[in-house]
Amino acid sequence: MRSNFEALRETELDIDQCKTIISRSARKLKGWTHFVSEKNDVFGCVLGEKSDNNHGKHALRNLGKDLADYLGKNKVNSVSVDAGAGTFWIAEGLFLASYRYNKLFGKTAEQVWSLKEIEIIGLSKRDFQKLSAIFLAVNETRDLVNSPLLTLTAEILSSRIEELGNLHGFSTTIFNQAKIETLKMGGLLSVNKGSIDPATFSILEHKPKNAVNKRPYILVGKGVVYDTGGLSLKPSGFMDTMKCDMAGGAAVVGAFCALAIDEVPTWVIGLIPATDNRPGGNAITPGDVIKISDGTTVEVLNTDAEGRLILADALHYAKKYDPKLVIDLATLTGSAAKAIGPNAIVAMGNAEDKIWDRLIDSGESSHERLVRFPFWEEYNDLLKSEIADLKNIGGAEAGMITAGKFLEHFTDYPYVHLDIAGPAFLEKNHGYYGKGGTGIGVRLLYDFLSNVKS
Ligand code: BES
Ligand code: MG
Ligand code: ZN
Repeated sequence: MRSNFEALRETELDIDQCKTIISRSARKLKGWTHFVSEKNDVFGCVLGEKSDNNHGKHALRNLGKDLADYLGKNKVNSVSVDAGAGTFWIAEGLFLASYRYNKLFGKTAEQVWSLKEIEIIGLSKRDFQKLSAIFLAVNETRDLVNSPLLTLTAEILSSRIEELGNLHGFSTTIFNQAKIETLKMGGLLSVNKGSIDPATFSILEHKPKNAVNKRPYILVGKGVVYDTGGLSLKPSGFMDTMKCDMAGGAAVVGAFCALAIDEVPTWVIGLIPATDNRPGGNAITPGDVIKISDGTTVEVLNTDAEGRLILADALHYAKKYDPKLVIDLATLTGSAAKAIGPNAIVAMGNAEDKIWDRLIDSGESSHERLVRFPFWEEYNDLLKSEIADLKNIGGAEAGMITAGKFLEHFTDYPYVHLDIAGPAFLEKNHGYYGKGGTGIGVRLLYDFLSNVKS
């Protein structure tokens, strides 16, 4: 009998049987968790700490992560989880930490470990449905974020959105380049000018018959499928990971999968403007003045501040729905990542405090935490242009806030901006978030939208 998780690592598994059971039959011991090896392939887990507080949930997910590490190291690819009250959270951590992006291995595919089967024992039907919704949704988001440009252009992203809508039961409308031109979405069109691939604008809708709200919640996601910076080209060290620049859009897609699978009674609309940002022959140049679909002219002084241009068109488009609240998610600024690293989302906006309280609660509960930044109007001064209504960059300071204030210009409704540049894509393993695309935002939005009352 061992009293810590090392026991699990030290005990040999019956690999042939490929089955590990975290059993609730273990004896109750002091402390919040103990592992007891009963047979070779049976492990006990007793949970002393309550799993209904955020700290407890996080600790249990970390336990799931430890199990994922163990299974990976020993190349076990099937597991059963039964941990009494802790099952939900341990399984969530196990799922998150065992995710791998294995799709693109060719000749070496056979050698790559993946956890193929997770059996969850003893969950209620309701919890099982919730867990499946989360896993499918987060995995889909992570696959999208991890997909390089060749496998995920704007058009491929939109087709996948359509496919997922048909599969899980949300409706989709895709605007092609011609339609985007008709709508005069000058932000999206100008970022797309240097590209050889057309832009798309995807609209997702989850409108259950029993919806609790009369006005929709709208999720807007940045869908830059690759960000080279355009003519304001990024140095290569900063460009390598920029396939992740549609992580906001991917989180919106994931949230819709979860809402539809779990039949959440909230009416939600999603808007995802998508293109790559490239320095092709026709690319806009620093100094160009473009016109957003609402008529605002913008002096583009840095073509690498492209996210705000495509989001401006989407935020303007959102007005026609008379939304209750609009939340956008975007890998928008390096300064957000610098300010906070992988540990949280940089959040700001003008929504009422009641909404912030609930969002922050959802963040703590899902451990996709938010830190609220100021949104004072003084920051608007930094966006004044001498030749147009706005310029697309502020000063050297508070870049994440001037970016948020730029976006706010295109809103006329309660608004929350989430800059996920820090946690969206990680170059090294970080807790149960793993490596590469993390799917940040999906569990947060799913929790928040599942708990709205009107
Ligand atoms: N996609 C980037 C932001 C980013 C940086 C995301 C790091 C993820 C990790 C965005 O389009 C960008 O390039 N922003 C510029 C804005 C600047 C030119 C005002 C930035 O933050 O450097
Ligand atoms: Mg950029
Ligand atoms: Zn970008």
